[in-house]
Amino acid sequence: MWMRNEAMRRFVSRNRFVSFLTFGVHSAIQMKLLGGHKHPVTLRRLKQARADTDSLLSSDEAFILHELAQAQAIYEGDLAEFGVYRGASAELLCMVKAHRTLHLFDTFEGLPAPKGKERKVFVKGEFNGSLKSVERKLSGYENVVFHPGFFPDSAAGLGEERYSFVHLDVDLYEATLAGLTYFYPRMIPGGIILTHDYSIIDGVSLAFSEFLADKPEHVIELPTTQAMIIRSAHTA
Ligand SMILES: C[S@@+](CC[C@H](N)C(=O)[O-])C[C@H]1O[C@@H](n2cnc3c(N)ncnc32)[C@H](O)[C@@H]1O
Repeated sequence: MWMRNEAMRRFVSRNRFVSFLTFGVHSAIQMKLLGGHKHPVTLRRLKQARADTDSLLSSDEAFILHELAQAQAIYEGDLAEFGVYRGASAELLCMVKAHRTLHLFDTFEGLPAPKGKERKVFVKGEFNGSLKSVERKLSGYENVVFHPGFFPDSAAGLGEERYSFVHLDVDLYEATLAGLTYFYPRMIPGGIILTHDYSIIDGVSLAFSEFLADKPEHVIELPTTQAMIIRSAHTA
């Protein structure tokens, strides 16, 4: 099965009302539950990051992103996000990165053309953000570097950067594989690559299993749709 719940996913994502009833209400309930026991500063950040911005992360997923990035930002190395869309998850990264550099990779024109069976689920240009509006949203944060364009071509000019934390959220098999191929050798020992959609998009999980086939790291699935790998100290 290439795309789990393919018809359902397409129906939900293309219909704003259904999307609100499913994802929106679910995420609002999660936020209420988090409000019962999480720190008020974290809750404020989660709300601010998604204010007036379409966000594709549920509240629980945003919370996990916040916590992992905050913990990793104490280590030497940059942070990166591949798959920025309108900047909701990127703003969360900005809020916790302190003085670290954050690299943001996206076409800012939506998904590249999907291939093969992915064409049944995604369309070229879907999740179309605009570079200008994301730059405006993040203008209050320092050391944020934009890399607009098709990845991995957009990373061509980068130098010897090492990363403590990378967030992948790109939906497509080829893009996920390209992200792993580029970032994995550049992670510090103990560096974390977190992906969205691992358990609901087969192209994402397939890219991870193919890429990790000859590597020592195991995928750690989280209770959300996310999964992560921790770069082994023995191979980094
Ligand atoms: C699901 S959206 C990201 C959502 C965002 N992280 C959030 O939480 O709001 C996926 C993004 O991946 C980007 N993308 C996918 N493949 C890409 C590629 N090869 N190069 C550049 N951007 C790509 C799309 O432009 C789109 O903005």
